[in-house]
Amino acid sequence: MSDYELKPLFSRERIAAEVARVGREISSDYEGREVVVVGVLKGSFLFVADLIRAINAPVVVDFVRLASYGAEMSSAGIVEMRKDLEISIRDRDVIIVEDIVDSGYTLDYLCNKLLLQDPRSLKVCTLIDKRARREKDIEADYVGLTIEEGFIVGYGLDYDERYRDLPEICLVEKA
Ligand code: IMP
Ligand code: MG
Repeated sequence: MSDYELKPLFSRERIAAEVARVGREISSDYEGREVVVVGVLKGSFLFVADLIRAINAPVVVDFVRLASYGAEMSSAGIVEMRKDLEISIRDRDVIIVEDIVDSGYTLDYLCNKLLLQDPRSLKVCTLIDKRARREKDIEADYVGLTIEEGFIVGYGLDYDERYRDLPEICLVEKA
């Protein structure tokens, strides 16, 4: 995309409200049990930062770095791990925190990989559930916001590494 514009989609207030709601859902499901939050870099870094402060239970945070996208907007379906976990998740309650689930390949890969380490439980939380292009039969347990299709940026999400710093979420549209 050479010529495009950014159209506001979700305001910072809307994002904050949904993050607070998801935090409440997780707090009531785990009720005082320690949760290991596994953030998927880079896109989830702001969501993780806000979500862990909205969870009313002891939280441990770690990150993995996965890559499935190049500079363009569609998935190659090939996932690569560029940074692994640094803590043990064996016998622990784990929640994967993703920025966005699109085809589902990234999440499918990560779930299978983490399950090999025998966590006590494994759930998935995504800020955005993008429905239209799902290829893997996989659903997040906790969802912040849902969109049908389109490419979005802001609040951690990038287009070719740009716009992660936007406080709101915008749709990238052809100008
Ligand atoms: P999936 O493997 O197709 O589900 O893609 C998941 C990854 O693709 C996410 O973690 C994002 O990094 C990236 N991605 C998918 N859709 C978007 C989008 O609309 N904006 C920014 N990144 C996206
Ligand atoms: Mg990305």
